[in-house]
Amino acid sequence: MQIVKSVAEMQSICRKLRMQDGLLGFVPTMGALHKGHLSLVQRAGAECQTVIASIFVNPLQFGPGEDFAKYPRTFEQDCRQLEAEGVSVLFAPEATEMYPTGAVTTITVPGIGDRLDGASRPGHFTGVATVVAKLFHVVAPHRAYFGQKDAAQLAVLRQMIQDLNFDLELVSCAIVRDADGLALSSRNKYLSIPEREQALVLHRSLTKIEQSIASGERRSSTLLQIGRNTLETAKGIRVDYLAIVDARSLLPVASAERDVLIAVAAYVGRTRLIDNFLVA
Ligand code: PAJ
Repeated sequence: MQIVKSVAEMQSICRKLRMQDGLLGFVPTMGALHKGHLSLVQRAGAECQTVIASIFVNPLQFGPGEDFAKYPRTFEQDCRQLEAEGVSVLFAPEATEMYPTGAVTTITVPGIGDRLDGASRPGHFTGVATVVAKLFHVVAPHRAYFGQKDAAQLAVLRQMIQDLNFDLELVSCAIVRDADGLALSSRNKYLSIPEREQALVLHRSLTKIEQSIASGERRSSTLLQIGRNTLETAKGIRVDYLAIVDARSLLPVASAERDVLIAVAAYVGRTRLIDNFLVA
């Protein structure tokens, strides 16, 4: 696996790879890799000739007072895992390479980018859209793989790809969970043992809602109440949002029909966790 730190070198390598036969698959990450990230790499490997990954803890998507400085960084271990999964090239630039002095252009997706996590983390999705657009320009993949875990991020990027005519296919991949249901996240590393136990309430509340839908309840107001009742049973949890929204626009809907997103965000101690499911 080739590890590349410069934009110019990465562009030159990717230009050559694109001239070869087969698809170029791209998996952008912030590192601290777990089985969720690796499932994206595996899917890309099954569908594409060449897999490219990136590791970049993007300062632009962290707000003041958020966890940019303490975000877990496990570069050596990440490299071993990506190499074992057959990644050909890893792009791992420094912040000054991605944002040299004088860089001012950003990409904002108004509306969608201000909903759910965008509402609680102002500017977050501008940071995400900007860095992902830059990575797309550097790599120019045929397919880019993202996790359904970050459902609002997917909606923002889908809109950006459409609006800015990026010539690539966005592939959304299922959420990978621990055996007890907790969605894998690099931020789970922050949780103490009791907090990890408390964190299970996110998935439990979604499961309750899913069960109610399966037994015929579709009204969002009722489903939200069922979810809130479950969330309230947990100690040490501060709910940020529990929402039933259209998966593309992220606007609230009155009834949980197909392709509706049911999403939750909560602080467990000081750690903010998210989870969701799509109504089948
Ligand atoms: P990061 O949090 O590192 O996640 C990288 C990719 O892995 C995202 O597409 C995310 O949705 C996916 N992912 C994380 N946990 C997952 C899980 N449990 N199951 C399935 N997929 C999972 O998301 C980002 O980085 C950044 O915002 C980024 C897109 C790289 C831009 O900086």
